[in-house]
Amino acid sequence: MVNNEMTAENLRSAFAGESQAYQRYQVWSNKAEEEGFPGVGLLFKAVAFAEQIHAGNHFGVLENVKGDFLVAAGAGFGIGETAENLKDAIAGEKHEIEQMYPAFSQVAKNQKESEAIKSFHYALEAEKAHAELFSRAKEALDSGQDFEVDSFQVCKDCGYTVKEEAPDKCPVCGKEAESFRKFA
Ligand SMILES: [Fe+2]
Ligand SMILES: [Fe+2]
Repeated sequence: MVNNEMTAENLRSAFAGESQAYQRYQVWSNKAEEEGFPGVGLLFKAVAFAEQIHAGNHFGVLENVKGDFLVAAGAGFGIGETAENLKDAIAGEKHEIEQMYPAFSQVAKNQKESEAIKSFHYALEAEKAHAELFSRAKEALDSGQDFEVDSFQVCKDCGYTVKEEAPDKCPVCGKEAESFRKFA
């Protein structure tokens, strides 16, 4: 639950941003597959699921705030070549890591909004993993290759995303390996 209007507004904005990231990454996943980069396509699919987790977490914190709201959220548009989409994805993740979530977290801390603090923390930490994976995928593409991968694993609680095997324990939320969903 949430008690303060400013944190509620930040949760709604983050919900909208994450929801749109989910859709955008699905489109870019299809585009990567069309271009013959199934590894990048799989990465976009796995990360899209993680953004859905974040949106759901933020939405859940807002359980006690019912009604219709106009929601403002930064959101990139456009379908480019996959290398360009990865560049835009990295920029979007960086915005969340360096600007949006630190600011939202600070307000939530000032307002002692414990559920929002956790939800923003989970998202911020997962976005760091996403930025890293997108950067590695971009490097592969820049040298003319697909991102070589068998599977990605996404924590269903916090959206933490890892290449190949799931860790014994999620480094962000502490859940066991069974809490990870596999994309292969
Ligand atoms: Fe992300
Ligand atoms: Fe987790």
